[in-house]
Amino acid sequence: MRVLGIETSCDETGIAIYDDSQGLMAHSLFSQVDLHKAYGGVVPELASRDHVRRILPLIRQTLTEADAEMSSLDAVAYTAGPGLMGALLVGSAVGRSLAYALSIPAIAVHHMEAHLLAPLLEESVPEFPFLALLVSGGHTMLVEVSGIGDYRMLGESVDDAAGEAFDKTAKLLGLPYPGGPALSALAEEGDSDRFHFPRPMTDRPGLDFSFSGLKTFALNTYNAEGDTARDRADIARAFVDAVVETFIIKCRRAVETTGINELVVAGGVSANKQLRAGLQQLMQEINGKVYFPRPAFCTDNGAMIAFAGYLRFKSGQNESLNFQAKPRWPMTEL
Ligand code: KG4
Ligand code: ZN
Repeated sequence: MRVLGIETSCDETGIAIYDDSQGLMAHSLFSQVDLHKAYGGVVPELASRDHVRRILPLIRQTLTEADAEMSSLDAVAYTAGPGLMGALLVGSAVGRSLAYALSIPAIAVHHMEAHLLAPLLEESVPEFPFLALLVSGGHTMLVEVSGIGDYRMLGESVDDAAGEAFDKTAKLLGLPYPGGPALSALAEEGDSDRFHFPRPMTDRPGLDFSFSGLKTFALNTYNAEGDTARDRADIARAFVDAVVETFIIKCRRAVETTGINELVVAGGVSANKQLRAGLQQLMQEINGKVYFPRPAFCTDNGAMIAFAGYLRFKSGQNESLNFQAKPRWPMTEL
């Protein structure tokens, strides 16, 4: 069984082919970072137009790299939500048209479910049930995963997502878009002992998160003491330390309340080195295990869509051609 995956939910056009006997055959990505840089963030209309420009050449390129014919595909999976409506419509329209032309099924994939399943593309994989910490630009969730499509929400952010907090804090420190990677690089040069930021919502029970206060804390510290490059690196460090320790506290709590000691971490922020090291140490300490996607599959990519589509297809999912793209699509509806 061979599935073409199409990702166009935000500012990356990602295409991949997953085959159940050969594994991931090829994957290609076009990042729009340079396009949006001048605006300091993603401009939705420009994102949609660029997906239109890139998607067909990228599909052809991926088929060539996989040495596969279009006619060898058994299904086409595309990101149907959540994400930017115009951007989603490009991938949905192309994905469904292609499936219709080839007389094969089209599979609507939930972007966050694809992030959640991305660590299963690696060599060592957890067994169900496991915990999943999903940390992207739009979402922060702790989920108990009992099987494909069997998800129990344990906690989520009540305000900003972790990636959003990284991006906003980076912006106020004067760092270029995309802020998350720039802020984490700056933090590596900073001193952990200089500033101490709060660990939000860790002093009360529960597994929800709140990150918008950290951004304000960073802004106030920056206004009071952010004069030099050294100061800004120390502020970045305090911010990253606070986010990482908050995740460590909540993941430890999730393990204690569920009794599940295998954790997958996915989504753009899971590329963060400090977060990876912190959670690795936690899970080692409590005799559990943590699984991450390879760094290229932490952020948006076509491979996770092809793979999630394959798993969904195998379990019998198959949409009618009038399935709507959903900019908002709670994972609990799956
Ligand atoms: O999963 P993703 O590529 O797109 C969404 O589904 O949102 O996540 C993008 C987010 C952005 O907020 C970006 O700043 C953040 O992931 N990010 C990082 C790092 N790499 C990407 N945040 C912290 N450290 C990183 N190394
Ligand atoms: Zn994503």
